[in-house]
Amino acid sequence: MAGPIVGKPEELVIVLDFGAQYNQLIARRVRECHVYCEILPSDTPTAEILARKPKGIVFSGGPSSVYEDGAPLCDPALFDAGIPILGICYGMQLMAKMLGGEVGGGQHREYGKTELTVLDDGDLFQGLNPRLTAWMSHGDRVERVPDGFVETARTAGVCAAMSDRTRKLFGVQFHPEVVHTPWGIEVFRSFLYNQCGCRELWTAESVVSEAVRAIREQVDGGKVACALSGGVDSAVTAALVHRAVGEQLTCIFMDHGFLRKGEAEQVVETFGEHFKINLIHAQVQDRFLKRLRGVVDPEEKRRIIGEEYAAVLEEEARTLGDVQFLAQGTLYPDVIESGTRQAARIKTHHNVGGLPETLKLQLVEPVRYLFKDEVRAVGEELELPGDIVWRHPFPGPGLAIRILGEVTPAGLHTLREADAIIIEEIRAAGLYRRLFQCFAVLAPVKSVGVMGDQRTYASTIILRAVVSEDAMTADFAELPYEVLSRISTRVTNEVPGVNRVVYDISSKPPATIEWE
Ligand code: XMP
Repeated sequence: MAGPIVGKPEELVIVLDFGAQYNQLIARRVRECHVYCEILPSDTPTAEILARKPKGIVFSGGPSSVYEDGAPLCDPALFDAGIPILGICYGMQLMAKMLGGEVGGGQHREYGKTELTVLDDGDLFQGLNPRLTAWMSHGDRVERVPDGFVETARTAGVCAAMSDRTRKLFGVQFHPEVVHTPWGIEVFRSFLYNQCGCRELWTAESVVSEAVRAIREQVDGGKVACALSGGVDSAVTAALVHRAVGEQLTCIFMDHGFLRKGEAEQVVETFGEHFKINLIHAQVQDRFLKRLRGVVDPEEKRRIIGEEYAAVLEEEARTLGDVQFLAQGTLYPDVIESGTRQAARIKTHHNVGGLPETLKLQLVEPVRYLFKDEVRAVGEELELPGDIVWRHPFPGPGLAIRILGEVTPAGLHTLREADAIIIEEIRAAGLYRRLFQCFAVLAPVKSVGVMGDQRTYASTIILRAVVSEDAMTADFAELPYEVLSRISTRVTNEVPGVNRVVYDISSKPPATIEWE
């Protein structure tokens, strides 16, 4: 049962999703301008859109061509609703076609970095240089702008932007939301502040006060349980609920035995001792290990861990008596993914907090509309320790899916020690926050080595370090050789039973970030 929407500010911008790869980035850029926005499917009924009273609408890009059958359209009434609209790529072409301009197929595809000349800096390009570099990715193009529009920027052969200032309709052919268009944020600022009249209401401080108000209203005098994982999402969720309803909250922190070194101690210290939150520390390592004995298949491991997790959580929640609410750290990307995508199942993800339906708990999801970077900003606002706020994402099944093959106590010990050294060295090199994730994997491979003139036949640690914006795609990180070298030396010297360290140089796709 989904809980009510909590913590939304009064001004909203809607991003209509025409299937773009980058639609989440559009939403993130808007929010970086401190304006709240939500992504809705392009076929959302106009009445529903207007009922939300958006201050502005952004049409995303999309893979279709406006003149092919079945291309997603929008209701023409939107153009007459008096709401400023910014069309990006396909969104601009759609606007051009529907308002009587001409869109042609591109013999002249533009892809990648492209030089752009500003023809008119009266609206979106205000304050920018007349010559800019923009990121393009399109085949079709606007050949004639509709009546009432002027062309405001051009690349070599193509209309790169158009505006109708009277109706406040704007289009850009390039992608202002991607990092390769570094000044793109200025385009959003001009659109949001000057054209839509948005104020900067979306701040960590306002999110906290709005969330606290909404949680109080939802929970009233009820009891709330919250599964803490040690990660930032559940930590921020717990801290918000605690600020709102204090003693009515009990956190359940489960140590399934697959946590990183020092993690359990830190959670107990932060939440139990520092914040003085009611905390159940369930130490159920043996239970999980027993169920994983002999299991080597990754999906089977994930299934068993998920099942056991829900069972323990249910048992612990029952000891609390009449709990009516479950606080959960669901993030906005999960909400969008489950609503719009039908991707093939690559891995069964087990997110902490999934309780069986039988408990009939109502969900409290105070970070449901936040992106990860926003959750971190809220965590800082709530004065959570930096170690928790900036901790890299960690899978629910933890180290169990970083030991390839059977999970054993000895394997866990080896992996935990190697992982701790890696993180220590990455932090010492000042790289931790620049990486999306960085960790050790224990390979089921032994190899021959030599140590102190003796032959060894010992384990292999795989070092995985990636850069990524949203985990959907990732590149292996180009770590400096000195750092690689220090990690390798320390892991082989300090972790018994390891004589080799290898670096994973795979990107996602075709690999994934985790190995299982
Ligand atoms: P992959 O390995 O699919 O991972 O590239 C993408 C991101 O998801 C994390 N991950 C998980 N997170 N439960 C989670 O909450 C899981 O079961 C799980 N499996 C992978 C992974 O660490 C990466 O950030």
